Formats: sequence, C-alpha cells, structure tokens
Amino acid sequence: MADTVFTIDGLTVTFGEFCAVDDVSLKVRRGSITGLIGPNGAGKTTLFNAITGNLSPDRGTVTLNGKQVTGLPPDRLFAMGLGRTFQIPRPFARMSVLENVMLAPLAQIGERLTGPFLSARAVRAQEKEIRVRAMEVLEFMTLSPLADHPAGKISGGQMKLLELARVLMGDPEIILLDEPAAGVNPTLAGTLIERIEDLNQQGKTFVIIEHDMDFIMRHCDPIIALAQGKVVFEGTAVEAQSNPILLDAYLGARVDA
Ligand SMILES: Nc1ncnc2c1ncn2[C@@H]1O[C@H](COP(=O)(O)OP(=O)(O)OP(=O)(O)O)[C@@H](O)[C@H]1O
Ligand SMILES: [Mg+2]
Repeated sequence: MADTVFTIDGLTVTFGEFCAVDDVSLKVRRGSITGLIGPNGAGKTTLFNAITGNLSPDRGTVTLNGKQVTGLPPDRLFAMGLGRTFQIPRPFARMSVLENVMLAPLAQIGERLTGPFLSARAVRAQEKEIRVRAMEVLEFMTLSPLADHPAGKISGGQMKLLELARVLMGDPEIILLDEPAAGVNPTLAGTLIERIEDLNQQGKTFVIIEHDMDFIMRHCDPIIALAQGKVVFEGTAVEAQSNPILLDAYLGARVDA
C-alpha cells in the first residue's frame, strides 16, 4: 500500500475577494496522527470543508488512495473511508445518544434498500445489527452509561466523544477531527486521546486541528501549520518548537510565502 493516504494539490477556496485557503498542497502519511495548527481564521476548518466535500474548492485537487475525489459530496467520501467531526458538535438534541449513533450508518444503508421489497423481518434484523454495533462503539467511547440520555443534555465534552462515536460507525480509514479537545475537561480529553491512539494503533489515520499545543506536541507527527490560508510549516514537534515562523504565525504577524 502506498505511503500516502491522501494528497491535496493546489487547493484554493475563496469567499468573494477573500482567499481563505490559498494554494495548499500537502500529503498525509498513512497511519499518521497529523496535527493541523494555526491562528484563528487561518483557514483550517475551511481546508477540512474543502477536503470532505462540505464546500467546493475554487481550484486544486484532493486525491484519496490514488483516486481523484475533488468535490464529491460528504456521504460519498464517508463511504470511501473518509470521516470527520465538526468544530461545533451538532447532535440531534432530542434523540438519545444511542439513536444519534445509530443514525450514522442508517443514512448509508437506506440508499441500498429496495423499499417495498424489503421484508419487515429484514429491516428488524438490520436494525438489531446496527444497535449492537452502536452499543459497542458507545462502550469503546465510554458513553454507554449515557446511551438513553437525550443528546442535547450531555456535556460539551461528551458531545465531542459522541461525534467521534458517530464517525466510527462507518469504520473510516481516515478521520479528520476539528478541535476535538476544545472545551473538554481534562479527564474526558484523556479518554479521547487514548481512544485516538488505540484507533491509530489499529491502522487508522488522523488529521487533527487543535489549538492546544500540549496536545499537538505530544500526540501529533507531523505537525502542519497554516497561516493566512497558506502552509507555513511542516515538521516534527521538536522542529516546531524551535521554528520562528510558527512564532510569527501565532503572534499574527504577516507571513510571506
Ligand atoms: N462561509 C464563509 N463565508 C465567508 N467567510 C468565511 C466563511 N467560512 C470561513 N470564512 C472566513 O475564512 C477564514 C478562515 O476561516 P476558518 O473557519 O477556516 O478558520 P480556522 O483556521 O478554522 O479558525 P478557528 O481556529 O477560529 O476555527 C476566516 O477569516 C473566516 O471568517
Ligand atoms: Mg476552525
């Protein structure tokens, strides 16, 4: 298998006159936990959105396992093994935690069903299978005691774990996490990182946006920094700590490409 799980080439996203992602090219190493850092407004979330089909880039390409996938919708990419979480979790607040997790694969299976020809028994069998899998995933994420709680009533940190649980239902090969530790208490953040490292050991590749430098430095390799829509650094944690460009980016100084 190739070393690179996905490649971005010349990706550019503009909002009117403003260029949020400016000609970004990078490769993500298979099996890595890649960290994506940069000041507020650097274009990190916009870059994720352009990769996962949540918005169309103006220019550039995204190649996933050697296939050009630029502009494909998020559900197609999810089916191809690319999952993501959002900076602000958006669970269905009135549904239970378990139902929220069960919905993730239903959206996909629903497309394959041939409605009137599917027997009630087959539907029940399928639902049971999904429920069992959802409970396993909740257990893994330490959320099973909350399975029956309304998703709108759990803490912000638990919602972040729920987001990852939903993504895991699809068993994606690559998972993009947008600020998974933001607003999460240290205990839950510890659980989250343990789970990420377990999944990484099992072969999953992660790209993680985080402002928490301690989290990034400890767990991510390589680290990529964006500033004003451009990649300004790529290297190890040790290299990051002694890199003057990163200091500039974090102080908000202008960074010339
Ligand atoms: N839909 C949009 N319309 C117009 N401008 C947008 C839109 N989405 C993002 N932007 C702008 O693009 C820039 C990059 O935003 P983005 O959300 O990607 O930053 P970020 O690096 O994720 O920041 P943060 O760390 O605060 O989450 C910002 O200036 C933002 O205001
Ligand atoms: Mg963001």
